[in-house]
Amino acid sequence: MSTTQAIDWESKYRAGSTGWERPELHPAFCAWHAAGTFAPPGRVLVPGAGRSHEPLALAETGWDVTVVDVAPSAVAVQQARLAPEGGAPMGRALLADLFTWAPAAPFDAIYDQTCLCALPPALWPDYAARLASWLRPGGRLFALFMQTGTPGGPPFDCDLGVMRTLFPPEHWAWPEALPAPVPHPSLRAEQPALLRRR
Ligand SMILES: C[S@@+](CC[C@H](N)C(=O)[O-])C[C@H]1O[C@@H](n2cnc3c(N)ncnc32)[C@H](O)[C@@H]1O
Repeated sequence: MSTTQAIDWESKYRAGSTGWERPELHPAFCAWHAAGTFAPPGRVLVPGAGRSHEPLALAETGWDVTVVDVAPSAVAVQQARLAPEGGAPMGRALLADLFTWAPAAPFDAIYDQTCLCALPPALWPDYAARLASWLRPGGRLFALFMQTGTPGGPPFDCDLGVMRTLFPPEHWAWPEALPAPVPHPSLRAEQPALLRRR
């Protein structure tokens, strides 16, 4: 583990200690998809994707998907889905620490589902700066801000006041109104937010 990982995520996957995982696509993802919000497709990054189903769903919508995660078994799952042997590759899964990794070119969109809340808040300013650097100007950040209302973590509480400071309006365009928070099966709730990098 590097110093930017407070948690041994691979051990959690191997132990089946994955209370953050949803058995199906995230309801907010489905709502964005149904509303056509993911159009037009382009290049999308899913940081800390774990074994989530959304990278494949984005690929099936026409997006060129890049997954980055530090947990080898999760990366193997995503790579098998995105680039199945004998099948046409729809993306790639990279084993890397987000705090040392850099893409060759910026992305059109980033889908962050329980990655930010998995990181110790002391790392959030660095992570937010990296998110901005990974996106092209005008690129979109699909965020699911975990709402625990309690100290400690992970998951760490992504209080909306803190999020508005972390993603300030001079760098990020926020929507006038946010959709309703989505309950999480074992955690509390997540606040969907679609931000646009200025
Ligand atoms: C709470 S899990 C969320 C997984 C997935 N997004 C989901 O919704 O099921 C956090 C994920 O972030 C990954 N992660 C944590 N720190 C990371 C880092 N510094 N670089 C890359 N991935 C990291 C972990 O390996 C884990 O898969």
